[in-house]
Amino acid sequence: MRTVKKAKRMQSLAAGIKRDGRTIAFVPTMGALHEGHLSLVRRARKLGDIVAVSIYVNRTQFGPGEDLKKYPRTLERDKRLLRLLDVDYLFLPDDSEMYPSGYLTYVETEGITSVLEGKSRPTHFRGVTTVVAKLLNIVQPDVAVFGQKDAQQAIVISRMVADLNIPVKVIVAPTVREKTGLALSSRNRYFSPEQIRRASCIYHGLKRGRELINSGVTDSKKVVSEILRIIDDAEGTTIDYISINDANTLDHVRKITREVLISAAVELDGVRLIDNIKAKPGRTGC
Ligand code: PAF
Repeated sequence: MRTVKKAKRMQSLAAGIKRDGRTIAFVPTMGALHEGHLSLVRRARKLGDIVAVSIYVNRTQFGPGEDLKKYPRTLERDKRLLRLLDVDYLFLPDDSEMYPSGYLTYVETEGITSVLEGKSRPTHFRGVTTVVAKLLNIVQPDVAVFGQKDAQQAIVISRMVADLNIPVKVIVAPTVREKTGLALSSRNRYFSPEQIRRASCIYHGLKRGRELINSGVTDSKKVVSEILRIIDDAEGTTIDYISINDANTLDHVRKITREVLISAAVELDGVRLIDNIKAKPGRTGC
């Protein structure tokens, strides 16, 4: 695995790969890799001749008071894991490479970024779209792989890629979970096994919501209040939102008649967790 720290160098390596007629599959990450990231890398391995991964903790997607300083950094371990998966290139820029002095340009996708996570974290997606647009320009992949765990992020990035005519195919890979059901996240490393067990109430709530929808409940308020009850019952949880939205547009849904995304943001003992599940209505009208 070759580590590349400079954007220009990465771009010229990518151009060489393309000239040779080979394809690049790319997984952008902020490091602190876990099995969820590794599943994205394995998927990338199947999708391109060359696999590139980036590790960059992007400060522009953290709001004031969020955990940028505390964000886990485990570079040596990350590198070992990526080598084991035969990753070809690790793009590892620093802040001055990504946002040199005099930096003034940001990418903003409107509308779908002001609901759910965007409502709670108003500057978050501007940071994500900016850094992902930059990373795509630098690594020039044919395919980029994102996780369903950050469902809204995947939708926002797909929109940006379409709107800005960026020549990349966006692939969204399934969420990987702990045995208890808790979605894997770099922030789970702050938890004890007992907290992981408690945090799994989020997934259990979401699953119950899906069951209700599958069985024909169409009133989203009813579904949300059942999920709320399950998550609220677990000790140490503070709910930010539980929401049911159109799975493609993220429009808020009152009556469930098409595929929806049920999403939740919950703090457990002060650590903010997000998760989601898709659900299709059962035989409505019964
Ligand atoms: O999902 C993440 O880890 C980040 O938001 C991403 C896509 C790497 C951009 O910094």
